[in-house]
Amino acid sequence: MTAVDLARRLDNRVPLGTVPTPLVRCESLSALGGVEVDLKRDDLIGDQLTGTKMRALSYIVWQAKEDGVSDLITIGEPTSNQCRLVSMLGARHGMTTHVLLRKSACYGDQEDDNLTIMRMHGARVQFLEEDEWRLHGMTAKRLMSRVRKAGGKALFVPFGCGGLPGALGIIDLVREIVAQHGGRCPYQHIVVPTGSGATLFALDLAMQVLDLDPDTVPMLLGVSVARDAPGLLQQIDKLYAQVRPTLGATLQRTDRLTIDDRWTDHGPARQLEELQRVVGTYGLLPDPLYVLRAVLALERLISSGELASSSRVLLLVTGACRTLHATRQRATETRHATQ
Ligand SMILES: Cc1ncc(COP(=O)(O)O)c(C=O)c1O
Repeated sequence: MTAVDLARRLDNRVPLGTVPTPLVRCESLSALGGVEVDLKRDDLIGDQLTGTKMRALSYIVWQAKEDGVSDLITIGEPTSNQCRLVSMLGARHGMTTHVLLRKSACYGDQEDDNLTIMRMHGARVQFLEEDEWRLHGMTAKRLMSRVRKAGGKALFVPFGCGGLPGALGIIDLVREIVAQHGGRCPYQHIVVPTGSGATLFALDLAMQVLDLDPDTVPMLLGVSVARDAPGLLQQIDKLYAQVRPTLGATLQRTDRLTIDDRWTDHGPARQLEELQRVVGTYGLLPDPLYVLRAVLALERLISSGELASSSRVLLLVTGACRTLHATRQRATETRHATQ
């Protein structure tokens, strides 16, 4: 793909919110070990429409409108940022949203704000028991064929919004960071909260398709919240295979990309206390599943000297905390279960 083609594709999105998002120095993280840590505050991209996933979804929704899609289908936990955002964007752009949610013993029949927001935006919510959840692909296919029979057109938005056109949102994010620094990327490391691996993949991709000075391309560190490193790398390779036909046959995962999977067992019982500490120390109320763990990982990397002193580090703050009630509930129930 030529630079002109890429630039044209990067224009094809629905409005994104408040961009560029702020880049701010985090003095207290920096002070842990002689590095300079900046925060890319994607949690401030909008009000409820917050977070880095908005970047991917702004391209997915644009394409859906172009293709005459009437119904969006997506999946996640009741606390899923993606499900909330798809519901809100569906309502805003005249599409019906169906969310397939994993039924969780933790929540009982109480609804956290996240679920309430989905419902307020007209999302059709279906809870899946654990065995149905494992087969959610089939449920989604059945739903798609029901929409088709009723004369509509459905689009399935996969977990993490991986592949194209979602990856364009992250390529655009890298352009934004480079523009904020007057045309160059000053970071040696970018730290990214990682679930499906879609954001990490797209950052690695962006470093190849954008015309960056090779001497300034940063290392990318994904802090995994669930999957182990080999599983995530495999998933990232699959995403590369998906985009190669469109973006370029030579594209592949680079060795700049690494994964820290030491945080996947970080249980809910400690989440609330650590959230409290992070609010007090850094003045940041991060997404408790994703960003919180990336902050903890970064603290450890800095204080243990794993990051070379005086290196510049960017932490991508991919989302704000929208699930305090669920976080508290989980912490309490986990404590009770272990007493
Ligand atoms: C706030 C936040 N951070 C990080 C992630 C993980 O991103 P990815 O699935 O692209 O690895 C998500 C996923 O929904 C998220 O909501």
